[in-house]
Amino acid sequence: MIARLGVLFVCLGNICRSPTAEGVFRQVATRHGLISRLEIDSAGTGAWHIGSPPDRRSQAAALRRGIDLSRRRARQVADQDFVRFDYILAMDRANLAALSAMAPTRSAARVSLFLPFARDLGVDEVPDPYDGGPDGFEHVLELIAPAAEGLIQHVRGRLSSDGAQATR
Ligand code: 4NP
Repeated sequence: MIARLGVLFVCLGNICRSPTAEGVFRQVATRHGLISRLEIDSAGTGAWHIGSPPDRRSQAAALRRGIDLSRRRARQVADQDFVRFDYILAMDRANLAALSAMAPTRSAARVSLFLPFARDLGVDEVPDPYDGGPDGFEHVLELIAPAAEGLIQHVRGRLSSDGAQATR
């Protein structure tokens, strides 16, 4: 039986997409009664925004779904993340490539795209909303929400006592 799993969401700046994914997944994990079994965090592959709160537009879009991101502060992916987390989930291929380049050869973490956890979404990358209009931030949430639901079903299978649904 697996007692706990760690999930790290990763984008470029850690101020738009990955803090949103972290907040949505925390909300979903809480609803499923699994929050105490999960370590959930987010980070960026870039360093520009270290220490900054999430973008105001991401905060506003999340708050419309009852998710408060105001206390988050951006950080950069660190080597120890590949030990600390079981899943390191990238928002797009550029960040996946950056993570793959960083990953130590002995890392047991699963490094992959996040959106494929949603079934039938038709896209596998969350577009960077930073330089676009407000619709882009709502679109980020629309993509992340079903992927968070798919991910909770996946981790629930791994955390279940008999482990029968483990698919890793
Ligand atoms: P994120 O969005 O990767 O979803 O946090 C971005 C935020 C800032 C920048 C790029 C993407 N930037 O270039 O500063």
